Amino acid sequence: MRDPGLVAAPSADAATVRVTFEYVAWATVWLLVGTTIGLIASIKLHWPEFLPYAWLSFGRVRPAHTSLVLLGWASLALVGLSLYVVSRTSRVPLWSPRLARIALWLWNLALLGGLVTLLAGVSRGPQEYREWVWPLAVILAAAVLIDGYVAYRTVAARTLPEVYVSNWYILGGFCYLPILYVTSYLPFYQAGLGNTVVAGYYMHNAMGMWFTQLALGVSYYAIPRLLGRPVYSYALGVLGFWTNLLFYPLIGAHHFIFSPVPWWLQSTAILFSVGMMVPVWAGTGNLLLTFKGGGGAVRRSYALPFLVTGLIGYGLSSTQGTIEAFRTANVYLHFTNFTVGHSHATMYGFITFIAWGAVYGLVPRLTGREPSPLAVGVHFWLALVGVLTYVIAISIAGILQGLAWVAGQSFIVSVIAAEPMWLWRTIGGLLMVGGHVVFAANVWAMRPQRATVPTPPNAVGIPA
Ligand code: HEM
Ligand code: HEM
Repeated sequence: MRDPGLVAAPSADAATVRVTFEYVAWATVWLLVGTTIGLIASIKLHWPEFLPYAWLSFGRVRPAHTSLVLLGWASLALVGLSLYVVSRTSRVPLWSPRLARIALWLWNLALLGGLVTLLAGVSRGPQEYREWVWPLAVILAAAVLIDGYVAYRTVAARTLPEVYVSNWYILGGFCYLPILYVTSYLPFYQAGLGNTVVAGYYMHNAMGMWFTQLALGVSYYAIPRLLGRPVYSYALGVLGFWTNLLFYPLIGAHHFIFSPVPWWLQSTAILFSVGMMVPVWAGTGNLLLTFKGGGGAVRRSYALPFLVTGLIGYGLSSTQGTIEAFRTANVYLHFTNFTVGHSHATMYGFITFIAWGAVYGLVPRLTGREPSPLAVGVHFWLALVGVLTYVIAISIAGILQGLAWVAGQSFIVSVIAAEPMWLWRTIGGLLMVGGHVVFAANVWAMRPQRATVPTPPNAVGIPA
């Protein structure tokens, strides 16, 4: 059934609409490319002879997959949506859509360069999520700085006295990513264990201070807007923001429990991983409570089920992360496929579902075009069944590997135990990629009409 709330918002100015849509459209292109490459990586693990070319070897396609889905899909989708959110909640058009478009082309240039160089075997080596050679990193950093500046100038020009809670998260993400990027690329303190500590810091803060911040910022706008009611507690939203900032930066060493990294640093990371339950449940609880009494709206809407799934994904998979950080659990799970399950439960079950919910909830309001609700339903179920199959299978593989290793069995025993689960991961991945193709068709169906009439910015609505 069609969502009655999804009508075009004639108040959105044409330039903001176009640039937001361009970000979403390019994000979708990278989603298709990045997850097809993920599928190739997955097939290779149970069928090693598949596509036996050097440029498609596992060691090259893995970083190509991660960099495209993280920097191409998740970042571009969330940045595009964030630019729209800062404009709407500040009741002004986006400050310089032209600059935002230049930034988009810098993103695309860096992503294309990243794809070609990684497949050609040119990289910085095993530096998770920062494999790109530095000239590409500089282009990406320029794009982030420009987008952050456009967002900041838009909020600075707001016609309301307060800064809406979404913008705390969004501007926070834009402030933190450059710090993170510079810290992780500067070479002079990254010898030996210094490199390991920085790797942990970078990996997890990219997740917590970039993706999580933008996804929550967008959620704090989209959910009240789609439900037509204010967020359950503004104060809880602000508490979540500050406690996220307090706990996240110190949890990186939980990636290296039982390693030669100082014991006290590992213990601090575990303690702060427990502290993370405060922002996680403040955010999840606050946004889920906003739905209280809104069951009817969720049933009628095709966007809200994605957002509810994403929120549940956030709460559950982060709690899983906290449990995984304890030494008693980590001794069994570290180095195993269980972590790959956690990565997909979070980056897909949380971040990607929130991005989809916001795209389906907001884009028809700005372009005036809706996808077929049936096609959205097909996308939802393919993605949900696919990711559940993926995460359950690969988590079982991880537990079997951990049990074999702790029991002191030979490595091949763990490979034989995990192999059937790798096939199930591919089956889940096929469903996911099928869902992405349907999503791409839906994005195309939502494209803006050529002539969108610009109207005065003060007509723009914000969440109640
Ligand atoms: C309370 C919050 C969280 C905690 C305590 C937590 C904990 C952990 C731990 C302990 C690991 C490493 C496991 C190991 O290697 O032994 C890990 C890995 C990972 N987590 Fe989380 N997690 C949390 C939330 C999240 C969120 C929200 C995201 C995504 C937005 C995320 C994404 C990842 C990814 C991608 C990895 C794999 C990193 C790699 O090794 O390449 N986590 N997490
Ligand atoms: C938007 C969707 C996706 C996101 C954000 C995503 C993210 C990630 C991340 C963060 C990792 C690193 C995991 C770690 O080291 O712990 C990873 C690895 C991987 N992903 Fe994905 N992924 C997505 C979709 C897919 C799909 C559809 C497949 C297809 C089966 C797939 C297959 C893989 C494989 C095979 C690896 C390598 C695992 C290994 O090293 O053993 N991913 N992905």
